[in-house]
Amino acid sequence: MKVSVIGTGYVGLVTGACLADMGNEVMCLDVDEAKIRSLERGIIPIHEPGLDEIVKRNVEAGRLVFTLDAKKAAEFGEVQMIAVGTPPDEDGSADLQYVLAAARNIGRHMPDYRVIVDKSTVPVGTGDRVEAAVREELAKRGADIDFAVVSNPEFLKEGAAVDDCMKPDRIVLGLSDARAEAIMRELYQPFQRNHERTLVMSRRAAELTKYAANAMLATRISFMNDLSRLAEVVGVDIEDVRRGIGSDPRIGYSFLYAGTGYGGSCFPKDVQALMRTADEHGAPLRLLAAVEAVNDDQKTTLVRKAVKRFGALQGRRFAIWGLAFKPNTDDMREAPARSVIEALWAEGASVCAYDPIAADECRRIYGERADLTLAASPLEAVRGADALMIVTEWKEFRSPPFDEIRARLKHPVILDGRNLYEPEAVRRHGLEYHSVGRPA
Ligand code: NAD
Ligand code: UGA
Repeated sequence: MKVSVIGTGYVGLVTGACLADMGNEVMCLDVDEAKIRSLERGIIPIHEPGLDEIVKRNVEAGRLVFTLDAKKAAEFGEVQMIAVGTPPDEDGSADLQYVLAAARNIGRHMPDYRVIVDKSTVPVGTGDRVEAAVREELAKRGADIDFAVVSNPEFLKEGAAVDDCMKPDRIVLGLSDARAEAIMRELYQPFQRNHERTLVMSRRAAELTKYAANAMLATRISFMNDLSRLAEVVGVDIEDVRRGIGSDPRIGYSFLYAGTGYGGSCFPKDVQALMRTADEHGAPLRLLAAVEAVNDDQKTTLVRKAVKRFGALQGRRFAIWGLAFKPNTDDMREAPARSVIEALWAEGASVCAYDPIAADECRRIYGERADLTLAASPLEAVRGADALMIVTEWKEFRSPPFDEIRARLKHPVILDGRNLYEPEAVRRHGLEYHSVGRPA
């Protein structure tokens, strides 16, 4: 099948590469010239395990091509997948200008029947707006061409995007058109594995399902973070509670880790956008306001713990392990580390940070500053620091040389925002250990 993917970011590039790997002919379009030029040279602009090989393999096989030519992309694929960004507007609602621009372009140039698939995360009713935009462009051309607009939200996680795309838990299709359904089922047939994973529903239901999934996951995290404050004061280990409730299959273990709050390009913006949609329709989602407030607070919990331990932080220096919003990515969008660093700066402290891959991204965001040093190794970061703060749970932080850390720190203090260690084990090394939701 011929597929055009509009937007070559995390979702577009991964989806395009995986579809090509299944034998489809895929053309990826972007408006970012630098991105397309580097992809043409085989340079992947994002860090995503396994993606390089898939892109390389399919470019070499001639199944995956990149273009800046919007007309060519609209003409190419019978399936047109829109995977452009939907960033937050000033009021938190999703900014749909890129989605609608992509839709208009398809309408302007499509030569015959097209299935227009919305993969971007978009508010309920966006499918109707995409349909109207395409119709308007067709009318301008005086063209009478049939098309269908399908909602097909994406559920992949950064850092595991290729795996999630190749082995989806479910494939949600929001549509009401038999011809489009047959095409979409054929396209996704190779991704079904042992049993049918397609869920067909109305377009609006598919749009809402995507936000509901992210909001539910964010709610679980905020619930645990909120509970972790209580656990600390009543002398309970939140990890015991997590295991205790997670063992109930109705609850399950995932997304119950208390920590430094959720970040990334999705949960924060999607929780906000869903709240705005609900407000606009006069059905406010009260729970989500609390989810967001708990998260905002949680992002600086380590700094509050540091103030409690040290008093004024003016002139102190903190080592930070982990800058990315989660492991296996260099993405720092809404990363808790940014809140921690900025709160430390506001207190007059300085930072020496280490991250296995996000240092360049950190440099790009903050530039050169006297109060920010980027270390080449975890141990270099702790040298001479007043304490160590752990913000992202990279694997390489899981069994660190505690004695060497103690020897390098000015004060033997670890503030762990990801509960990586058994408290007693750390204390045996002569280190003071503060974590989240566990008695200090
Ligand atoms: P991104 O910012 O990484 O990429 C979007 C790309 O679209 C950019 O390269 C941009 O230049 C391009 N673009 C913008 N307008 C365009 C146009 N008119 N024509 C062609 N290209 C255009 O975004 P992303 O992280 O891939 O997210 C895309 C959508 O998918 C968002 O709605 C997001 O919420 C959703 N989503 C993201 C993830 C994720 O893990 N990142 C997961 C699921 C869903
Ligand atoms: C999330 C969803 O998991 C994907 O299904 C969805 O497709 C995507 O958003 C999206 O819509 O873009 P992602 O943002 O890549 O994916 O990362 P997650 O693994 O969900 O983690 C999000 C944040 O929650 C991270 O900061 C992580 O550290 C935090 N988290 C996660 C916790 O604090 N505790 C947990 O138990 C789990």
